[in-house]
Amino acid sequence: MNDRASAAPLAVVVLAAGQGLRMKSETPKVLHPLAGRPMIGQVLDTVGALSPTRIVVVIGAGGERVAETVAPHPTVVQEPQRGTGHAVLQARDALSGFTGDILVLYGDTPLIRADTLAAMIAARHGPGDPAVVVLGFRPDDPGAYGRLVVGPGEKLEAIVEFKDADAEQRDIGLCNSGVMAIDGAVAFDLLDKIGCDNAKGEYYLTDIVGLAREAGRQCAVIEAPPDELLGINSRADLARAEAAMQDRLRARAMAGGATLLDPATTWLAFDTRLGRDVVIGPNVFFGPGVTIEDDVEVRGFCHMEGAHVRAGATVGPFARLRPGADIGRGARIGNFVEVKAATIEEGAKVSHLAYVGDARVGAGANLGAGTITCNYDGFTKSHTDIGAGAFIGSNVALVAPVVIGDGAMIGAGSVIGKDVPADALAITRAPQKNIDRGATRLRRRRGRAKD
Ligand code: UD1
Ligand code: CA
Repeated sequence: MNDRASAAPLAVVVLAAGQGLRMKSETPKVLHPLAGRPMIGQVLDTVGALSPTRIVVVIGAGGERVAETVAPHPTVVQEPQRGTGHAVLQARDALSGFTGDILVLYGDTPLIRADTLAAMIAARHGPGDPAVVVLGFRPDDPGAYGRLVVGPGEKLEAIVEFKDADAEQRDIGLCNSGVMAIDGAVAFDLLDKIGCDNAKGEYYLTDIVGLAREAGRQCAVIEAPPDELLGINSRADLARAEAAMQDRLRARAMAGGATLLDPATTWLAFDTRLGRDVVIGPNVFFGPGVTIEDDVEVRGFCHMEGAHVRAGATVGPFARLRPGADIGRGARIGNFVEVKAATIEEGAKVSHLAYVGDARVGAGANLGAGTITCNYDGFTKSHTDIGAGAFIGSNVALVAPVVIGDGAMIGAGSVIGKDVPADALAITRAPQKNIDRGATRLRRRRGRAKD
């Protein structure tokens, strides 16, 4: 980027007023999730890398949920929706007095990269001082996209909407992505001149190119790979975008030093953080908010969200870490263990078949198979505190609130409702009774004598 580009303030207008009918959903299209967050969140995050001074989101009537999601960024309501040019005009008041660069993006085109946007801004301040820089792409099937008419010297002459294009124009492979960088000093003067005398009777933002040229300004094109410009109109598009997003996130994880044993089956969230020398087994799902520190092994078929796994720990196979799970250094969470809002301190072991919720498990403690923290009595949630080095036998119910002291031992099968002092042994099992030859007599009575 040249000095002028980095010096010019940037405003972003995100168009998100469209209803997204083809999604067949009660949820506004731009709120459908991609890698664990609403797709418009991805767009806002990407533009955030360019440090814009203002971001305005254009929403439709009934877009309250969108407004809540994008807050604190302001929204303006476009109603009725009379085209993309009309949509950008709604941002006029929000951008009054702004004369930097205006970047127009779509809320339903979330795969665009920050580098691409930076290249557009740089071109805006490049040779010829173009008033408009359009992001073009060459999809395999240009379909109904607007076509970019480029003249001598690579100058953009016009954007022709498919419905308005003649046969020769429809043969053009270079398409309009819809993303534009516009000189804010002239943007609204040009937008005001847009009419609606076209096949759709809409105010086309794309007309800004012809209008800028009539006003004596140049326009330019930057090309981006088609995979960045996939627009989401249907659930099938959403699935394609998710696949592309997952590929990116996996590549990022591997570049950061994580081994994914079967990358295609590692599902990552936008914010999954994997350290170095982490090994992820097949079929692992990361929901939002997971941090995995260095040297952690996550074996196959784990499901995690909102969890922090510290260095050297081992998790799984088949473990579930729910929000607030904090797995300490070198700790071990084994198969069919669920952890929620619980801190498992350094070196503690919960190796099989357990539920640990609303709890602290002290360093080096060992929870046997079938340990359950009974954290919910039907009315309130209560806390279980297990001291360092404690040993909990198999199939123990810890009825919270309850405190197990450091080094205490609990006998298998116990139901523990009272605190256990440090280093005490607690057992609540009913005493065992052995009846001599009782089995023999029972069989005889039931007519199945074997002796
Ligand atoms: C638009 C472009 C077309 C381009 C294509 C890329 C115009 C006239 N055409 O066509 O050249 O190839 O995008 O996908 O710009 N929106 C509003 N308010 C409106 C209309 C649209 O907010 O009144 C928003 C939509 O929510 C959507 C975006 O703008 O995010 C694009 O609208 P859409 O109707 O999909 O435009 P296309 O006709 O596909
Ligand atoms: Ca579209």
